[in-house]
Amino acid sequence: MENHKRPSATILFIFGGSGDLNFRKLSPALYNLFIDNWMPEKFSIIGIGRTDYSDSDYRGRLLEGIKQFSRRKDVADTQWQAFSQHVSYLKMDAEKDEKYNAISELVQKKEAEFGEHPNIIFYMAVAPQLVPDIAKKLGKENISSDKAFTRIVIEKPFGHDLDSAQELNKLLMSLFDEKQIYRIDHYLGKETVQNILALRFANALFEPLWNRNYIDYVQITAAETVGSEGRGAYFEGSGTLRDMVQNHILQLVCMIAMEAPVSFDADEIRNKKVDVLNAIRRIPKDEVGKYAVRGQFSAGWMEGEKVPAYREEKNVDPKSTVDTFAAVKFYIDNWRWQDVPFYIRTGKRLHEKTTVINIQFRPAPSYAFPPEAAETWRANRLTISIQPEMDIRLRFQSKRPGQSMTLNPVDMIFRYADVYDGNEPEAYETLLLDVMEGNATNFMRKDQVEAAWKIIMPIQEAWQNRPPVNFPNYSPGSWGPEDAEALIARDGHQWIVM
Ligand code: BG6
Repeated sequence: MENHKRPSATILFIFGGSGDLNFRKLSPALYNLFIDNWMPEKFSIIGIGRTDYSDSDYRGRLLEGIKQFSRRKDVADTQWQAFSQHVSYLKMDAEKDEKYNAISELVQKKEAEFGEHPNIIFYMAVAPQLVPDIAKKLGKENISSDKAFTRIVIEKPFGHDLDSAQELNKLLMSLFDEKQIYRIDHYLGKETVQNILALRFANALFEPLWNRNYIDYVQITAAETVGSEGRGAYFEGSGTLRDMVQNHILQLVCMIAMEAPVSFDADEIRNKKVDVLNAIRRIPKDEVGKYAVRGQFSAGWMEGEKVPAYREEKNVDPKSTVDTFAAVKFYIDNWRWQDVPFYIRTGKRLHEKTTVINIQFRPAPSYAFPPEAAETWRANRLTISIQPEMDIRLRFQSKRPGQSMTLNPVDMIFRYADVYDGNEPEAYETLLLDVMEGNATNFMRKDQVEAAWKIIMPIQEAWQNRPPVNFPNYSPGSWGPEDAEALIARDGHQWIVM
């Protein structure tokens, strides 16, 4: 982050200040930014919530979260004291309270204290159904019309489908300018995801091969071992396709498939990504079965522990038809990617926690080698491990030492842990710093969100119209339903497991 400057004075209001996202992610991220000297010299963080907290109780609660979830778990007292004096709490029912002017008053007070006009950031760490109402109430305050300094951050899910996303966009755009709106997708803050741009565009080696002439197919796996983690009520209204594919996975597809940007300007990068989304082939509703597979996990065992079926989890309908797994084959109809399948799969309670992208190159011609050499013939493959492993490996053929020409696939590996000190910032650190700086590159623009929904809608609608008859259809600890294997086997390939 060395090309960043510390942002100018900032007031950050966190709606949902007493909630889980703030506890687990936002506060630890802000604390780490502070320790790394990235927080502005003058800043104030104000948690807003309904729970009764004194400032000092609130700080105590956040400290617990930081100790539990921060990448730095040892919190030095002096550093905590220095940070926490910037944190306060405002008890307010954001739904009902008509005293939104308390916020404007706080801004005035802080502005006088700082001696300069600060950035004002409203972070919506609340349930999505509360966002429109809060945004409307904020929109009425004068401070919101300050296009240069006031920003609003919207968490996912951004809408529930295309219509609701469009409606939310319309509402937000009537209250704020597009450049004030930061729609978060935390995958874009991940170090290894941002590195895809460096890998592709700061090296001369890959880009000439990065197309349909040399790439056979692309695979993206984002597997999790957890179930709905107490978020049954949310997940019942969402499902994996909405929760992971519409946003995180499609963003990864964009990073892999986009054209080279001419600059790192926010709109330039986002234009290139939108081009990819617009080029993704729409799946006809009556052909969804050929391109997409859904699944839901049963009860079973994971690492020696019995785990309940999704349908038995808290706040989940015992007859739920919600997808906890999705696999899709996408095509991108443009000059670079025509006919190259992008296979993606993601789900809960899978074999291991891993997010990995595989670029499978076409095989080299083998005719010059003796037939036994061809037995171990493997095409080149570039593997980008996003998490928890952070590495990039390039598989290539080598000659096994000995008197015969026997081939052996080997890996060239770049491991973050071998090169860097292991102190990579968390996604939320990077993204919060971006918001404070007013840099929207890693945030979703209005048209991006809508384009992503357009891709998902035919699958979502087809699934809704034909409730699954075979749920639950995969066991915990597996790689998902058998149909997902068939999806890719039909093309003569298989899912790559590292
Ligand atoms: C969130 C989803 O956006 O991403 C969760 O709502 C999911 O269901 C999470 O578990 C995965 O994020 P990560 O960073 O752990 O891959």
